[in-house]
Amino acid sequence: MINIAIDGPSGAGKSTVAKLVAAKLGITYLDTGAMYRACALYALRNGVSVDDEEAVKKILPDIRISFTGEGESKKILLNGEDVSSAIREHYVSKAASDISKLPSVRDYLVAQQRKIASETDVVLDGRDITSNVLPHAEFKFFLTASADVRAMRRYKELIARGAEIEFEKVKADIIDRDKNDSQRAYAPLVLTPDSTLIDSSDMSPEQVADLIISCVSDGRRGR
Ligand code: DC
Repeated sequence: MINIAIDGPSGAGKSTVAKLVAAKLGITYLDTGAMYRACALYALRNGVSVDDEEAVKKILPDIRISFTGEGESKKILLNGEDVSSAIREHYVSKAASDISKLPSVRDYLVAQQRKIASETDVVLDGRDITSNVLPHAEFKFFLTASADVRAMRRYKELIARGAEIEFEKVKADIIDRDKNDSQRAYAPLVLTPDSTLIDSSDMSPEQVADLIISCVSDGRRGR
């Protein structure tokens, strides 16, 4: 199996790049952040606090996440409902970051992610893929960019979706989420020593994807 693990902070371009890499290599893309978002959405819809470990633990068996389609038409289903747009709402981002601190949620989703990775050639992006989900993945990358560049990317994405939001608010939220994701006790975002660090501030998604693919091709030739 080919497993390509990509971690990094919010707005680093992980999902755009991971999708491109998967399409170019003809393999599956697994958006692990979308899984945390779907859990957060379910909790929010059911009035369960995303900080309440005991209450969240109780609803986990009711949360079934699946994917359908490939490439641009790939959708995430929450109990059979397409929630691909709903999970991208701004208010879901913070709730996803908060719910992802809970060990029971992480264990529940990580088991599913490992199963998929053991059965499929896959590019996975997230926060703990290189350190925790697949520490032995053959290809590991840490994708980052400056906070300004990441905030601007998110801002444009939200505006394009019709959101009414200020750039400064998006930037403050990104910095807050960085802190939340890298300072949590359980499986925080870290740069592992064996990951290739890529700063995408001045690179297009195509350039980053090509760089990753060249590392993967070199690695495969090297064996
Ligand atoms: O990548 P994203 O913004 O869609 O992820 C949403 C949140 O989920 C993010 O703030 C942290 C959490 N997450 C995580 O803890 N571990 C992952 N592997 C992926 C996402």
